[in-house]
Amino acid sequence: MLSKEIRSHFPILNQEINGYPLVYLDSGATSQKPVQVIEAIKKYYEFENSNVHRGVHTLGNRATESYEGAREKVRKFINARSTQEVIFTRGTTTSLNTVAQSYGRANVKEGDEIVITHMEHHSNIIPWQQLAKETGATLKYIDLEEDGTLSLDQVRSTITDKTKIVSIVYVSNVLGTMNPIKEITQIAHEHGAIMVVDGAQAAPHLKLDVQNLDCDFLAFSGHKMCGPTGIGVLYGKKELLEVMEPIEFGGEMIDFVGLYESTWKELPWKFEGGTPIIAGAIGLAAAIDFLEEIGLDEIEKHEHELAALAMEKMSTIEGLSIYGPVDPSKRAGIVTFNLNDVHPHDVATVLDMNGIAVRAGHHCAQPLMKWLQCTATARASFYLYNTEEDIDRLVAGLRTAKEYFNDVF
Ligand SMILES: Cc1ncc(COP(=O)(O)O)c(C=O)c1O
Repeated sequence: MLSKEIRSHFPILNQEINGYPLVYLDSGATSQKPVQVIEAIKKYYEFENSNVHRGVHTLGNRATESYEGAREKVRKFINARSTQEVIFTRGTTTSLNTVAQSYGRANVKEGDEIVITHMEHHSNIIPWQQLAKETGATLKYIDLEEDGTLSLDQVRSTITDKTKIVSIVYVSNVLGTMNPIKEITQIAHEHGAIMVVDGAQAAPHLKLDVQNLDCDFLAFSGHKMCGPTGIGVLYGKKELLEVMEPIEFGGEMIDFVGLYESTWKELPWKFEGGTPIIAGAIGLAAAIDFLEEIGLDEIEKHEHELAALAMEKMSTIEGLSIYGPVDPSKRAGIVTFNLNDVHPHDVATVLDMNGIAVRAGHHCAQPLMKWLQCTATARASFYLYNTEEDIDRLVAGLRTAKEYFNDVF
């Protein structure tokens, strides 16, 4: 387990909620921010704030250096070949929509197939539904195994030579399942399809290496990995991005503008129309420094241990069902559950009364809820600042909820 001292970097955790010390178990929705990130953003606004790429003045140069420095930091973080392959976006949702609208519209036609799975977040479903509707392509789903994992046999039998795009979540935000992305990428490539990875729940927790995975695109969000909201990343292979058209047009992304025709800047800027998310990128760079200092391998190990412990302790509560892989080594630090027939919103409300923050609802994964045959679940998601004591508080809170709703059992 990581040192408890890590908590001291997160000012927000040092408070009481409803008379109890806060236990934050909703990092899957958004993570908390360490003081290092808050300070980096503050420093930018206090000493560097200016627009980038345009200024001949000192502040403009400072802001540009910090913004482009953040891009280099992201490049190293995911081991991309070049900063031209790193595009700053608003988040995973925008990154995935960019691929669907730019690459998708140019390369998918009637009769083609787009392959996703039943465990996708809405952000990795709807852009493909829209693309399929526009182009006449077929959207296909890879079936899940009973424990909420993917089998490579199912992957092989779903992807065909008609498949043009495979888009799969690396770590499920509901089941916690970690998918074999490298192997799936290989299968997609054997059929001439490209591989898009939704890395929203992976980037905060695992060491990512896009060259090793060989994926064609990877999307993730800064706010789930200790960075600020409003910044995300689209990684794409240079040879693909180079021939893709931008989807947003305006300032910053142009080379020359005439009355009737314009040309675009080179990569990555042609995909960054308008004033970029400068403070967001700087905050993300500070978050990467923070995570790397602790070590992504250490963070992943810590979360595996917490998830295993949580599953062990939670399974002693009669009537509590946990969804997703039973084997903790197949899942990240996410435990989704239901307590008998009590609505998860009610469970989450009782937990909140005890100072414990969990999420309840469909987790932006309604097709997965259908697959699980429930309308909603509660979810505890762990991050580097969570401790064994947090799990004990969760289990005690769940026992309180169970007593509270005793009547309905
Ligand atoms: C797996 C997954 N994909 C995509 C998203 C969307 O991320 P964002 O809202 O930051 O664009 C989320 C957010 O919860 C997620 O968990």
